[in-house]
Amino acid sequence: MKKIFITGGAGFIGTNLALELLKNKENYVVIYDNLSRKGAEKNLQYLQEQKFENFEFIKGDIRDYKKLKEIVKDFDIIFHLASQVAVTKSVEDPFEDFEINALGTLYLLETIRKNCPSAILIYSSTNKVYGELSHLKLREGKKRYYLIDKKNGIDEKESLDFHSPYGCSKGTADQYVRDYYRIYGIKTVVFRQSCIAGPFQYGNEDQGWVAHFIIKAIKGEKINIYGNGKQVRDILFISDLINAYQLSLKNIEKCQGEIFNIGGGVKNTFSLLELIEFLEKKLNKKIEYEFFDWRPGDQKVFISNNKKLEKYTGWKVKINKKEGIEKLINWVKKNLSLIVFL
Ligand SMILES: NC(=O)c1ccc[n+]([C@@H]2O[C@H](COP(=O)([O-])OP(=O)(O)OC[C@H]3O[C@@H](n4cnc5c(N)ncnc54)[C@H](O)[C@@H]3O)[C@@H](O)[C@H]2O)c1
Repeated sequence: MKKIFITGGAGFIGTNLALELLKNKENYVVIYDNLSRKGAEKNLQYLQEQKFENFEFIKGDIRDYKKLKEIVKDFDIIFHLASQVAVTKSVEDPFEDFEINALGTLYLLETIRKNCPSAILIYSSTNKVYGELSHLKLREGKKRYYLIDKKNGIDEKESLDFHSPYGCSKGTADQYVRDYYRIYGIKTVVFRQSCIAGPFQYGNEDQGWVAHFIIKAIKGEKINIYGNGKQVRDILFISDLINAYQLSLKNIEKCQGEIFNIGGGVKNTFSLLELIEFLEKKLNKKIEYEFFDWRPGDQKVFISNNKKLEKYTGWKVKINKKEGIEKLINWVKKNLSLIVFL
């Protein structure tokens, strides 16, 4: 029996991850979440309705060091997903953002070091640690920006440039997680994730833009675009991210102490305007949108170079951007009653 702890496990990535892990009766999965994200309660309800015998939920906050020390004792694998996830919110309240993302991560690392130092820790970091990437040479097309150099995307050698309180707090955690391998020998792996999309994602204007656009489009509501809409992002379907987590566990001797960029890569990119156009065709309806000022630190292009992860684990993208978006459209359509609050 493997004991697995998922912080932020009632969120989008955590719910999909838990569902996958729970299929294996040899796993015992404990989710730890304060349910602060809108939609997390619905995800939890879904998980509980499946009546898994190897599942447990603990309501708790990543900032509660005392509670963490009581609970995190004999786990084999820990996924750290709990986070304040929005750049916008981090700008409004940088203290809270720091306490959850940076300090909360340090609490977890210290708990692991003291209570279960042989556990593997997988941390979900973000491509935002590379900042605005304003030095990249770009060409501006009609509907998108194009990378002129770095045609294979951004790899892990790119300089860190934390931008926005969210970038700073996630980047701090990212570096601490890696350093706990170097200094204390904790088996940690950091994934710097691009945009991830999939079911159980209650995307809103602040985070989860692909799901947000799909929900707005299906509900027939106007989309606000910050910037000129030509920003390009690579999109990865959730099952491919989970596969990468699992492959890193399988190859932990090679992957421990490593950092991996992960995203849809060069073949799976959309600009905001292109996604709207794609959705208009798919849903056969006109989508209304309006432009607003750029947001701080917004990258004009981010495309992950996945070569390191592929080399270390044999991982490959399996679900392309169109298939992924179709799956998400189907989930939103089936679950419209769940997303009325968005
Ligand atoms: N979804 C993406 O595209 C993406 C991209 C890059 C990085 N990430 C990272 O992946 C992780 C998971 O993201 P997600 O998309 O599933 O987000 P999410 O908001 O759906 O999930 C995060 C979960 O953490 C919980 N949480 C928030 N604050 C907490 C706290 N103080 N204590 C305990 N639980 C708390 C929330 O209730 C939520 O269930 C985050 O660390 C995020 O920064 C996500």
